[in-house]
Amino acid sequence: MKVSAVVLAAGKGVRMCSSLPKVAHQAAGKAMIVHIVEAVEQAGIDDIKVVVGHGREVVQSLLSSQKVEFVIQQQQLGTGHALLQAETYIDSDSAVLVLAGDTPLLRPSTLRGLIEYHLEKKVQATVLSADLAHPTGYGRIIRQDKGSFSKIVEEKDADEKEKAIQEINTGIYCFQAPGVFQLLHRTNTCNAQGEYYLTDVLEMLKSQGQKVEIVKLEDAQEIYGVNDRVQLAYVEGILRKRKNEDLMRQGVTLIDPLSTFIDQEVIIEADSIILPFTIIEGATRIGSECKIGPYSRISNSCIGDKVIIESSRVNEAKIGNGCTIGPYAYLRPEAVLHDNVKVGDFAEVKKSIIGANSKIPHLSYVGDAVLGQGVNIGAGTITCNYDGRNKHKTIIEDQAFIGSNTNLVAPVRVGQNATIGAGSTIAHDVPSDTLAVERAQQKNLKKRAFKDDK
Ligand code: UD1
Ligand code: CA
Repeated sequence: MKVSAVVLAAGKGVRMCSSLPKVAHQAAGKAMIVHIVEAVEQAGIDDIKVVVGHGREVVQSLLSSQKVEFVIQQQQLGTGHALLQAETYIDSDSAVLVLAGDTPLLRPSTLRGLIEYHLEKKVQATVLSADLAHPTGYGRIIRQDKGSFSKIVEEKDADEKEKAIQEINTGIYCFQAPGVFQLLHRTNTCNAQGEYYLTDVLEMLKSQGQKVEIVKLEDAQEIYGVNDRVQLAYVEGILRKRKNEDLMRQGVTLIDPLSTFIDQEVIIEADSIILPFTIIEGATRIGSECKIGPYSRISNSCIGDKVIIESSRVNEAKIGNGCTIGPYAYLRPEAVLHDNVKVGDFAEVKKSIIGANSKIPHLSYVGDAVLGQGVNIGAGTITCNYDGRNKHKTIIEDQAFIGSNTNLVAPVRVGQNATIGAGSTIAHDVPSDTLAVERAQQKNLKKRAFKDDK
């Protein structure tokens, strides 16, 4: 049977106190709605509808690379009304998985389990429940004497006895189309919140003599929903813990997982060591036997094997095998380091290719440059790449030696094996195997006596 998913994500999320819609907030470096859509995909569903309303442009752009179809809910009149908007997008005789966009801890296996159970039992509806020690705020599952489903009562509509029930509605269900939509047309807003409740459909099915199944979640933490930023931080912590534990099980050492922040997509190979106070973000890939940190932040970068990075910032850079970075280096977008390069303290590299075995050990700026192999850049060397209007290139060929405190006024080329004397401002090309010195003649003058000098 065809299975479609509908993610309800039109609500504002008032308690976030934000101009962003709730599901656009990030947990562990990824918007909550993206976590959910990925979980649905990984559960094996490829027909996914997302109901959007509040801040829908933001939500749509977050999902622009995902294969989903958007359904617009103009006014947020309740969860029942939200699902009803998807009616014309769902094929008859298909099963429909319904879930919200604000439970980023949900696992694909849980969704798969729910769908399989639903299809196996051939019922009109199956609801995912969970036992919570603190069920306040959730709809409660009311069971009949024999334990089968009776109805769901929202917190705001519940009496004291119902409020004492700890089994809650996770807001995740499987329904059968077209039946669910036919019933949704008949729901009303006679409840404490004046909304069209999706949950009413379940009671209606029961009164028609249909069977409604309940699947209880083993790990209730998975459906932990985010309503405010305190809960967002809690979820963030859990997601980070999961990622860190996955990495450790795959052979990566995290000296202090609590002070190590690694985004979901990051890949790190075995026997790399991540030291404390390190943040690794986005689509970053790190090879094996690296030593990263302490105090480093790496974003969207590709790093080879046996690389050492200490107290440094690396953003959209590519680093070959055996490189040593930092302490206090700054690698900016399009910095490409071939193997065994050293970029040391207070050195910045931007949009430059650094050939193998080259060294920029201290206090330098290298931008818009191409360095060959075995180049040595002395302390304080600056590529003067910007004339106020345009950026220009510096080319330094193999084995060139740039003396300390050199200004390379681009566009300029330094030939193979050339040497530049310390303190030079080089505005013209230097041929290969040449020593270039640009420096005023030193004068040693006799000290003039000051008035007060004895
Ligand atoms: C809902 C359930 C409740 C359950 C809880 C689990 C109902 C009536 N109640 O309550 O039993 O315990 O989820 O978290 O369904 N949404 C829309 N359009 C709307 C209203 C909501 O798209 O008009 C979306 C929201 O963006 C959200 C989801 O539906 O992602 C759930 O809505 P919310 O208002 O949070 O429902 P709850 O009151 O939490
Ligand atoms: Ca909610």
